[in-house]
Amino acid sequence: MLSVDKLTVFYENAIAVNDLSIEINEGEIVGVIGSNSAGKTTLMNTVSGLLLDTKLKEQRKGGERINIYGQISFLGRNITTVWADERVKMGLVLSRERHPVFAESDVEENLKIASYLLPKKEKKGMMSYVYQVFPALVPLRRRKAGFLSGGEQQMLAIGMSLMAKPKLMLLDEPLLGLAPAIQVKLIDSILAIRKEAGVTILICEQFARPVLPIINRGYVLENGMLTLHGTGEELYNNPEIKAAYFGV
Ligand SMILES: Nc1ncnc2c1ncn2[C@@H]1O[C@H](COP(=O)(O)OP(=O)(O)O)[C@@H](O)[C@H]1O
Ligand SMILES: [Mg+2]
Repeated sequence: MLSVDKLTVFYENAIAVNDLSIEINEGEIVGVIGSNSAGKTTLMNTVSGLLLDTKLKEQRKGGERINIYGQISFLGRNITTVWADERVKMGLVLSRERHPVFAESDVEENLKIASYLLPKKEKKGMMSYVYQVFPALVPLRRRKAGFLSGGEQQMLAIGMSLMAKPKLMLLDEPLLGLAPAIQVKLIDSILAIRKEAGVTILICEQFARPVLPIINRGYVLENGMLTLHGTGEELYNNPEIKAAYFGV
């Protein structure tokens, strides 16, 4: 479904992703595990096309800061130079790391804003589905997003991605900073989204423990380079992974 081939990304002269190749098959949940600065967000932003937009903006300002090499294909099409909004239309949707929702709008307004690509007749059904997956949002429909807790904001952010009707959803550290009980709820919702809505999922995380049990396969990223690849179970039972990524 998605294949990233020999992806290399530079910021100035610093290499953030180094010759990385990953593969995602339809229906899978694939994990990318890596500590802070490993290159997870750079990977997600490159796959979603966001980094291409940033690169263009920087070039307009006269800088030549970001360089991207390698190839990204989605649903059999080479999308390496396709803009982010076009990728969203193709069903490749990113839920960004700590990306704020529209704080001044309420939960339902945020979901409506995020549904701009959906045909009108599908909007209502998708919104009901979001409330089904995240029942905690139901009593908060009219609450301004700025007053939600971290966990509720993360649910809303994923809900907003759903409103774009993704085929492949990219989740950049969705569990970051959340209490373990909330993490468990989110993980259950992610599983439900795969099963019920048929969405394939790529999830990046720093803390591997809650994520490894639900992924089909995982890649371990260190300093932008791939160091390990295996099934969720193989990685879960790997002593080096336990030592390095099971903290806190
Ligand atoms: N906009 C940027 N400009 C310069 N360097 C960056 C930028 N974004 C990230 N980096 C650097 O690229 C590397 C990878 O960062 P990032 O992709 O954010 O990793 P992660 O999400 O795994 O923490 C880090 O060394 C980081 O400092
Ligand atoms: Mg990151």
